[in-house]
Amino acid sequence: MANPDRFINKCLLQSEGLLQITAIDVDRSNYKIGLPFIQKAGVEGKIKFIESEALPVLDKLAQEMNEDEMFDFAFVDADKENYNNYHEKLLMIVKIGGLILYDNTLWFGSIATPMNPDMPKDFNEARESIIKFNKELAADPRIELCQVCIGDGLTICRRVA
Ligand SMILES: C[S@@+](CC[C@H](N)C(=O)[O-])C[C@H]1O[C@@H](n2cnc3c(N)ncnc32)[C@H](O)[C@@H]1O
Repeated sequence: MANPDRFINKCLLQSEGLLQITAIDVDRSNYKIGLPFIQKAGVEGKIKFIESEALPVLDKLAQEMNEDEMFDFAFVDADKENYNNYHEKLLMIVKIGGLILYDNTLWFGSIATPMNPDMPKDFNEARESIIKFNKELAADPRIELCQVCIGDGLTICRRVA
């Protein structure tokens, strides 16, 4: 492709009025890292940034959202200990047929090896949470899923019920 940036911009502009992103982060400074690139692409107006803990925002969205406002797609890359709680809320606000992606579900490969007591406590706690979460996802009849072995592991879930 001659100029992928121009192609992406064209797609985003053609979706004017359709594409809307809600981004939640407890720390606005992290959003600000990407903001110059978002501005350069001319898509700042498409993104609603909410500085907050994610769970109360998802709770509120789940309570207030109409069916025609439901999301097509969600990407989760925050505190691993809450992935199961995010999953329950996201199943209420992502439409059937929509996708929910969870990052870091291989946790540096550690989920497939015995627990290493030399690793930091936080690391091993997140490892335990992710192992439990992966098992819960595998048994969840409301989704189909695919574990993608790229980066640190990405789980793609498609809501089916
Ligand atoms: C690994 S970073 C996300 C990186 C981002 N996905 C990217 O690719 O650039 C994790 C983010 O989750 C945020 N975070 C951690 N706990 C959170 C919570 N309980 N609610 C909302 N955001 C949280 C952190 O502030 C941090 O910006």
